[in-house]
Amino acid sequence: MIVAIDGPAASGKSTVAKEVAKRLGYKYIDTGAMYRAVTWKALKEKIDVTNEDAVVALAKGSQIEISELKNSHYKVTIDGEDVTEAIRSPKVSAAVSTVAKVPGVRTALVKKQRSYADIYPNMVVEGRDIGTVVFPDAELKVFLKASPVERAKRRYRELKEKGHKVELSAIERDIITRDKIDSTRAASPLLKAPDARVIDTTSKTISQVVQEIVNLAKKELMK
Ligand code: CDP
Repeated sequence: MIVAIDGPAASGKSTVAKEVAKRLGYKYIDTGAMYRAVTWKALKEKIDVTNEDAVVALAKGSQIEISELKNSHYKVTIDGEDVTEAIRSPKVSAAVSTVAKVPGVRTALVKKQRSYADIYPNMVVEGRDIGTVVFPDAELKVFLKASPVERAKRRYRELKEKGHKVELSAIERDIITRDKIDSTRAASPLLKAPDARVIDTTSKTISQVVQEIVNLAKKELMK
C-alpha cells in the first residue's frame, strides 16, 4: 500500500511520515529531500537557480540516494556527497521552490520517485504532489495543514536545535514565500487531492497525528 502525505512547508510531514512508516514497517520516502539536494548542488556549483536548462541538467545527471541509518534517521547523498544536514539550511530553503517549479526538474525526480514503487510495494511518501501527481492511485492520501504561525514556530525550534542562527520572522517569511511559489506554480502545484483526508495539526501532538494516520491505514488494509 502507498500512503501519500502532502502538505505545505513545515506542516509536520517529515516527523509524522517517518513515524508512520516505522509503525507500519513501510519504506519512507522524503521527496522534498530530493528537491533540496538538487538545489544544494546548484548553489555549490554556483549555478543560477533561475537558469532552467542548467538545473534540469543537474537534476537529470545527479545520483541522489536516501538511505536509512537506524532509528528512523536517514542519510541523503548527491553524487556520493553526504548532504543530510546541508540540505536543511536556510539558504537551501530559500532557493528550493525556485528549482522545484521547473517542469524538467520535476519530471526527472518524479521518475525516480515512481521507480521506488517497483522495489517497495509498501511505502509512506511525503511531499507536495504525491497524492495528485506522483501516486494518484495511492490507497491512502493525507493532507496535513497547520497555521503559518505554528509552522514557523516549529521550524524555528528545529533549526535552533541544530545550531542555526535564525529569526522567527525570517522563517515565517520563508514559509509564506515557499507556500506561495509551491501553490501557484504551473507544474504540479501543492494541492489537496480530492480524495485526501485533511488533518489540521495546529493543536495536535505528533503522536496524535501519527495514530490517526496509522488508524486510517489499518482501516484501508482491512478493506
Ligand atoms: O520540510 P519542508 O516542509 O520545509 O519542505 P520539504 O518537504 O523539504 O520540501 C522543500 C521544497 O521542495 C518545497 O517547498 C517545494 O518547493 C519542493 N517540493 C516539491 O515541489 N514537491 C515535492 N513533492 C516535495 C517538495
